[in-house]
Amino acid sequence: MIKRFDFSPIIRTGAVVRDLPYTDGMPAPFILKDNSFVLQMDDKTRVYGLGETMRGINKRGWIYESFCTDEPFHTEEKRSVYGAHNFLIIDGEERFGAFFDIPGKITFDIGYTDSDTITITPEKFALDLYIITADSLKAIVGEFRALIGKSYIPPKWAFGYGQSRWGYVTEEDIQKCADSYRDAGIPLDMLYLDIDYMDSFKDFTVHPERFPDLKAFSAKMKERGVRLIPIIDAAVKKEEGYSVYDEGHEKGYFCKDENGEDFVVGVWPGKSLLPDFLNPEAAAWFGKKYKALTDLGIEGFWNDMNEPALFYSERGFNNAAEQIKNLGSARLDALSFFGVRDTLAKLQNNPDDYKSFYHNTPEGKINHYDVHNLYGYHMTKSAYDALCELRDEPSLLFSRASYIGAHRCGGIWTGDNHSWWSHILQSLQQMPGLNMCGFLYSGSDIGGFNGNCTRDLLIRWLSFALFTPLMRNHAAFGTRSQEAFAFGDTEVFRHIITLRYRLIPYLYSEFVKAVENDAMYFRPLSFDYESDETAATVEDQLMVGDSLMIAPVYVQNTVSRHIYLPEKMTMIRMHEGDISTEELSQGRHNVSVPLGDVVFFAKSPIPFAKPAMNTTELDWENLEQLGVR
Ligand code: GLC
Repeated sequence: MIKRFDFSPIIRTGAVVRDLPYTDGMPAPFILKDNSFVLQMDDKTRVYGLGETMRGINKRGWIYESFCTDEPFHTEEKRSVYGAHNFLIIDGEERFGAFFDIPGKITFDIGYTDSDTITITPEKFALDLYIITADSLKAIVGEFRALIGKSYIPPKWAFGYGQSRWGYVTEEDIQKCADSYRDAGIPLDMLYLDIDYMDSFKDFTVHPERFPDLKAFSAKMKERGVRLIPIIDAAVKKEEGYSVYDEGHEKGYFCKDENGEDFVVGVWPGKSLLPDFLNPEAAAWFGKKYKALTDLGIEGFWNDMNEPALFYSERGFNNAAEQIKNLGSARLDALSFFGVRDTLAKLQNNPDDYKSFYHNTPEGKINHYDVHNLYGYHMTKSAYDALCELRDEPSLLFSRASYIGAHRCGGIWTGDNHSWWSHILQSLQQMPGLNMCGFLYSGSDIGGFNGNCTRDLLIRWLSFALFTPLMRNHAAFGTRSQEAFAFGDTEVFRHIITLRYRLIPYLYSEFVKAVENDAMYFRPLSFDYESDETAATVEDQLMVGDSLMIAPVYVQNTVSRHIYLPEKMTMIRMHEGDISTEELSQGRHNVSVPLGDVVFFAKSPIPFAKPAMNTTELDWENLEQLGVR
């Protein structure tokens, strides 16, 4: 059952697809106290959800904030990252789900200030609140997902493996990467184009020398079964003569300051403007621009920098420059020096900037800060709506920033993580929260984006990520190469990525089933084994679809793992490409997992395909059965 409570929302966010009547009275079991929703927890209470936030599957014991943030350090103390996913399930004396539908900032103190108290505080008390009760954790998710509408289903080929790197600059770089994969016999379906394919980082342009004929090149790659997936950034370069700028400026499609002037920010192209995605006309206009690339044979995109990320605003930068200039040649003591340093550091993603521009929405002029969390969602929606018009086939689309609602239009990746062992576990722990909120097509940068990856880290990371719907290896500019061919021996990588392809018929059909049934593809063990107290404490294993459970290794130099089996299962082991099975009883086990072996568990037989070099070659019909008991 769903009850909707009215706290005078300032705007319809677009998260829900059903218009439920409001319920009178208090939103029990919460009580209202000082503009917060408050609930006491007993010792056994567990809390799930909150999408892409940091820390564990059970969110209890920390404070989280929904405020879409370009956060390059995903450390434990961070309260916000790129997405705003305000749905949680409280599994305590009373068990229920709660969705706080609010476009601005909201804080979830889940036993942080007081370990027994949940305090949820919207910065502006203007929202819709949905309280959902049902017979089981899965059923609560099902009710919520029916409320927010069906999740995005990507094309089948998007279940293949993808390679990306910020640093492939030219067609030759991409060609070389494709060749290296082919020569190593490692399957591949997608190569990603980062910002360097553009001309001066201008959206919807192609650098004339780096990619002299992108149409011919993308056709040539597709013949090999490899799709090119370019990035699109939110901000548009401010440059007269660049048609996207000229048109957007003339038609008033960019966000404006308080005087109605275009609000100028700095992102990759330098001075840039923010398309007003909350203005449906502007969003439709921006979406149509993707045609420049679909006309060249492009079938998928990743949307980036759409929190929106601001390196600086023109006015913030000018103020900072003035301050520094005013210090003149005076002797800089330590305090004034640190002041200068802080002034510069605070230029990036400054809340004052978010408060300084406006959207022209159907509900009228709205300050960006109050609807900040909707920006990435509306960019994804603008691309999705346009791609549905432009192409007959489904397109690949995923984004960095998001709000619930965007799950109907595309997937997400979890942004700029690091080549850290802890980030394998972090990625695993983010998946169920994202799935609860409808984001099923998701994954993290395999090998880690920032920092330098090592061979063993990549092997372990791939061994987990081969189960994530979005399986993409991506790295930052200037970091060590981390392609599956970059560490000399390619054999072990070939075996792991081939295993992904052999599992695609299972993974894809479980994914589609989860979408159709408003269910989760990745689930914590406690969702399937509700009365099992041990299962409820497992933070590093997940159910994948109806039949599988995974328990990846995420610790450096470890060659075994403690595993909890909530019931008897078949352990499936891939060793040097060969598959073996072993029956294991319910309970705890210590399983040997040498580097390069992939171990996972089946409750029931699963389909298993023959090896293939890409999804086009994959034989979806003639399948074996794995894990027969
Ligand atoms: C952002 C993205 C990253 C991309 C980089 C350059 O940091 O998160 O994936 O490589 O921008 O475009």
